[in-house]
Amino acid sequence: MNILVTGGAGYIGSHTIIELQNAGHVVTTVDNLSNSNQEALRRVEKITGKPIEFHQFAVQNRAKLEDLFSSHAFNAVIHFAGLKSVGESVAEPLQYYQNNIDSTLSLLDAMNRHGVKKFLFSSSATVYGTPEELPLKETSRVGIGITNPYGQTKYMIEQILKDTCVADESFECTLLRYFNPVGADPSGTIGEDPSDTPNNLLPYAAQVAVGKLKEVKVFGNDYDTVDGTGVRDYIHVVDLAKGHVAALNHTSQGANAYNLCTGKGTSVLELINAFSKAADREIPYVITDRRPGDVASCYASPAKANRELGWYAERTIEQACADSWRWQKGNPNGYN
Ligand SMILES: NC(=O)c1ccc[n+]([C@@H]2O[C@H](COP(=O)([O-])OP(=O)(O)OC[C@H]3O[C@@H](n4cnc5c(N)ncnc54)[C@H](O)[C@@H]3O)[C@@H](O)[C@H]2O)c1
Repeated sequence: MNILVTGGAGYIGSHTIIELQNAGHVVTTVDNLSNSNQEALRRVEKITGKPIEFHQFAVQNRAKLEDLFSSHAFNAVIHFAGLKSVGESVAEPLQYYQNNIDSTLSLLDAMNRHGVKKFLFSSSATVYGTPEELPLKETSRVGIGITNPYGQTKYMIEQILKDTCVADESFECTLLRYFNPVGADPSGTIGEDPSDTPNNLLPYAAQVAVGKLKEVKVFGNDYDTVDGTGVRDYIHVVDLAKGHVAALNHTSQGANAYNLCTGKGTSVLELINAFSKAADREIPYVITDRRPGDVASCYASPAKANRELGWYAERTIEQACADSWRWQKGNPNGYN
């Protein structure tokens, strides 16, 4: 298939392009490089030995999108492009609503005009807000207790996509709800490259391991969990990337949500220990207060994706830590 990938230079997008190209798909990507580096795409080309057609512009740019759709016959769109920092979204809500929602609306308009009927969306576990049950299922309640504008954009976009599918029965939408992506391509040449201080635990621990940061902050150790620290469902980014290829191969009607997760929770301390083993060094950490809005545990069932997409998360936390460490050690300054 001829696939348009938005946000392809980013962390999940770059790993997904590898799997798409390995599966024989032809990839064009649009990225404004607001949180990424074109070097990621050059390295993906080296890994797969296949070219990526790259366009640098913001997906909200309707004129450029129109030019692109006019000159390509896309079979499907995978929409990764979006701003994703929870904290920043609280400080800059309009930027988040504008960037994430308008980019989606612009894409849907262009797809509509050009008869492109298949759309895969990078949604998130945040749509579940305060989990009403564990493990979370696709039928669990969504939209209640979302504590930040970032999460609201994901929830609103899911609603926009559902409405679009109701209006046009031939439009197919897959809402891929990611849990916590970790790890890197086993080559060690691409990985997560936060432009600022990392927001996520594993890249933070990785930067502590190479001496760029002093210690990991553990937000609370008095939760009702295995060791008192927060429990999350960490998924290897290569497994996540393969989930997109599986979703692309699947034909469904309307808007369909899938949890891309492992079904298994890992605590903050368990993850720090696993990373410490992979890096063969101590990772210093301090326990600080709980963060407002954090829940004790969040993990989900992958049963629907297993059953309907034939997709399984196969990689372990240990592999994710080893792969993440290989990337961090070989590229202490990311792509720079
Ligand atoms: N990483 C996670 O923990 C996680 C979890 C759940 C969902 N997601 C979602 O998955 C998607 C990809 O996440 P990621 O971790 O790869 O993030 P990322 O920041 O590494 O990648 C996003 C890419 O989109 C680009 N971009 C942003 N806005 C754009 C715009 N308007 N036009 C063109 N390009 C734009 C950025 O430059 C970047 O390359 C995002 O939508 C994110 O919200 C991520």
